[in-house]
Formats: sequence, C-alpha cells, structure tokens
Amino acid sequence: MTRTLQLYLAALLLALAAASPVFPAFFGLPGTRSQNKPIPGDSPLEQCDADDKQLLTIQLVNLLPNPPVRGENVTVSAAGHVKETIKEGAYVDVEVRLGYIKLLTQTYDLCEELEKNDVGGLKCPIAPGDYKIDKTVEIPQEVPPGKYTVLARAYTEDDDEITCLSGDIFFPSY
Ligand SMILES: *[C@@H]1O[C@H](CO)[C@@H](O)[C@H](O)[C@H]1NC(C)=O
Repeated sequence: MTRTLQLYLAALLLALAAASPVFPAFFGLPGTRSQNKPIPGDSPLEQCDADDKQLLTIQLVNLLPNPPVRGENVTVSAAGHVKETIKEGAYVDVEVRLGYIKLLTQTYDLCEELEKNDVGGLKCPIAPGDYKIDKTVEIPQEVPPGKYTVLARAYTEDDDEITCLSGDIFFPSY
C-alpha cells in the first residue's frame, strides 16, 4: 500500500512538475511552518511556504474528478511559470500521512521521476518559461480509505526552493 501511494504521489508530483515544473505535493499539514496560499483551479492543493521565494509559480491546478476516486482515473492539469532553469540534481521531499500516522517520508530525484513517468514530455534541464501539462493516473482500488495529508517540497541541486505543495485527500470506504 505504501508502494501504491508512492506511485500515486509520484504521478501527481510529476504532473505538476510538468505543468510548471514542479510540484511537490499537496495538502496542508497542521503544525508545520508553512504559510499556505490557495492555488487557482479545482483541486485540494495549496501552495505552502508561500512567503518564501520559489522558482516555480503555479498558476492553475485542476483535478478531474475532484476529489479523486479509488479505482478510477484522475487527470491532473496544471499550468505554471518557471523562473530559473531546473537541472539534474533537483529533488522533491514528500511526506504522506494517513490520519495522524506518518506513512511515508521520502526524497525523490525530480529529473529521474519526470523521465520515468512521462509528464507531458518534460525533461531536465527545464528552461525558464511557461508550461502546461496534463497527466492521467489510475488510483488503485487497493488504496486504503481515509484522510491523506500530503506535503511536498521541491528544491534545486543548490537547495533553492522550487515549490511547496500541500493538501488533503479523503477516500471514503465505499
Ligand atoms: C484509465 O485510463 C487508461 C488510459 O486512458 C485506460 O486504459 C484505463 O482503462 C482507465 N482506467 C479506468 C479505471 O478507467
């Protein structure tokens, strides 16, 4: 289950990254330092660390359907603007909780994940500019029901923040 979650998260992250590059994550964790700001569009995602300088401006994120449903496809559409080139060595720290239980804390190689998951053909280096992406992923029926809280922070190889995403997704038990 941790694995299916990881895949799901990785796909979502990639989609965002593609759209603008970066994406990291979702959902606001209570008790973290982040200042959250809504992201335009129909999704549970917010921008966290919103008062800090970030290389990626996310202009729009839509999930269809929102919220996503277990055993069904979800399409992530995102648009964003990249201010500085994102190169090999960029990484994403992802944290996932189910209720109060920490399910996953993991660092992913951003460029590697983009290659593996084909997010709109995005590849490092990602030049400055505007990006739009669409990515469809299937949410496995095996994902346990519950309220998931996701936090993702992406950084360049020099540890400059690319983006911070947070959000909550609730999967009912039926
Ligand atoms: C999800 O989309 C893929 C590709 O479009 C399709 O093959 C698959 O059957 C879809 N899955 C569901 C559960 O609708």
